[in-house]
Amino acid sequence: MSMQSSPSGKKVTVRTVREMKGREPVVMITAYDALFAGIFDPEVEMILVGDSLNMSFFAEPDTLSATLDQMLYHTKAVCKGAHRALIVFDMPFGTYVTPEQALENATRVFRETCAEAVKVEGGAEKADVVRILSENGIPVVAHIGLRPQSVRAEGGYRVQGRTEEEAARLIEDALALQQAGAFALLLEGMVSSLASEITRSVEIPTIGIGAGNGTDGQVLVWSDMFGFFEAFKPKFVKRYLEGARLIREGLRQYREEVKNRTFPDAEHSY
Ligand code: KIV
Repeated sequence: MSMQSSPSGKKVTVRTVREMKGREPVVMITAYDALFAGIFDPEVEMILVGDSLNMSFFAEPDTLSATLDQMLYHTKAVCKGAHRALIVFDMPFGTYVTPEQALENATRVFRETCAEAVKVEGGAEKADVVRILSENGIPVVAHIGLRPQSVRAEGGYRVQGRTEEEAARLIEDALALQQAGAFALLLEGMVSSLASEITRSVEIPTIGIGAGNGTDGQVLVWSDMFGFFEAFKPKFVKRYLEGARLIREGLRQYREEVKNRTFPDAEHSY
């Protein structure tokens, strides 16, 4: 297995991601605007414009109130900043209830943004949605395991696959979604051994979040991993930066210098 190739300037495509399975872990991160997408773009293979933005940037308690227009707006911004990574559009709650509705909405996504794939949450029951999109030139990442859009139905966020029946159902879901044409699977919040088993059972890459180290790649929400979202921190989130703390320190220094009139000094004045 060749490991950790340094990021290259070559455009990442659906084919690139598929071909990485078994060769090199796929690095994915969320982004919601041009500024940060531009910073992330050279370093990662995939950028997800996730509906998690509804929580981290819109202070909603869950992702369910995110709208197609809201997601389109943020994806257009991401498209301005990222030109290399594969951009995945997260279909919001209620926009892919039927295959026909999914096709209509995802077609709009492809017409109006540079997204190269969409993500939908759901197991085998969403196979028809995945099939119609895939057959119409819209590559799909299928999201199984803990599904944030089902939080109200489930009554909370619960790690999946702890019982044999649940694990067996998730393996069936993975196979059905692959069969329907998904080019990748996102495995969220599940027992690590199950995520590894699913990864071994399918030919398409799996991208994990809270699913252990045995998947073909990893994704994290950028505002979680860089310490900007402080409302709560799930166990699986590793903080690579204490962003909110750093901002506060900088801001307090700025405030102090304004108050005591040491900013702007001669160097920052005309
Ligand atoms: O919306 C999002 O950011 C996601 C991640 C949890 C993968 O779906």
